[in-house]
Amino acid sequence: MSIIKKCLFPVAGYGTRFLPATKAIPKEMLPILTKPLIQYGVEEAMSAGMTTMAMVTNKHKQAIKNHFEAHSDIEASIKDTPKQNLLNEVNYASQQCDFIYIEQQQMLGLGHAIYTARPLIGNEPFAVILPDDLCMNDNDSVLLQMTKIYQQHPDCCVVAIEEVPMNQVDKYGVIDGELLKGTNNAYRVNTMVEKPSPAEAPTNLAIIGRYILTPEIFDVLENTTADKNGEIQITDALMTLAKHGKVIAYEFQGTRYDCGSVKGFVEANNAFAKKQGLI
Ligand code: G1P
Repeated sequence: MSIIKKCLFPVAGYGTRFLPATKAIPKEMLPILTKPLIQYGVEEAMSAGMTTMAMVTNKHKQAIKNHFEAHSDIEASIKDTPKQNLLNEVNYASQQCDFIYIEQQQMLGLGHAIYTARPLIGNEPFAVILPDDLCMNDNDSVLLQMTKIYQQHPDCCVVAIEEVPMNQVDKYGVIDGELLKGTNNAYRVNTMVEKPSPAEAPTNLAIIGRYILTPEIFDVLENTTADKNGEIQITDALMTLAKHGKVIAYEFQGTRYDCGSVKGFVEANNAFAKKQGLI
């Protein structure tokens, strides 16, 4: 059984890179094949044993809430037809999990979005999924891999990392650290920088949108000052904990698609279509 029950989805962003598609539809509802990104995220959290899905939304994101609620008209219209199975996965998620929501009133960065969820999370460790980062795995999901690391280091936060080309580091939080004894894929982090230039970057090990955070992060976020763009960064808050040896970066197994970019979104659709034998 997982000791982490809650997964947080910061989904209040406007998704302006995907306009006009995201004018009326939340970017998290864009589908890879027939399934919205947010549903992949929820299924990944469930695969890691989590049963409470906490969403930080805004007033334009009603479609996300609707997606995880019953739709009696559609269900009646496909009842006893082969299409009935098409809703099985999302209905299963709705039955197995609690979905809780809070609205973020201002867009002040990922750290601010996570802090906004404090009343939903309380005093327990929790996971964070950024559904733009879609991960494909043959075996354990990325979040399940991370919960296994967390269980060995329960006083630490865990971030997922992968190597990116040096000319891409300015899109990510970037870490440096020392490999943990006996591993070749988990680092004790000693430096973290949010979106450095290639010249400033300590390495090319980039954080992707999967985190396991201890509740200590909320007090740290409360005291984290905004960056030059007025945003509170989770990377900066984690750096405070890294100074005390409390952050582990884990190089996950699997393939990540950056579905926040059009290119990554198309690549993900292709990869999932190939996996299902559609193309
Ligand atoms: C956020 C984080 C960044 C991380 C990235 C992963 O950035 O601030 O540290 O590397 O997610 O996707 P964003 O993509 O929201 O600008």
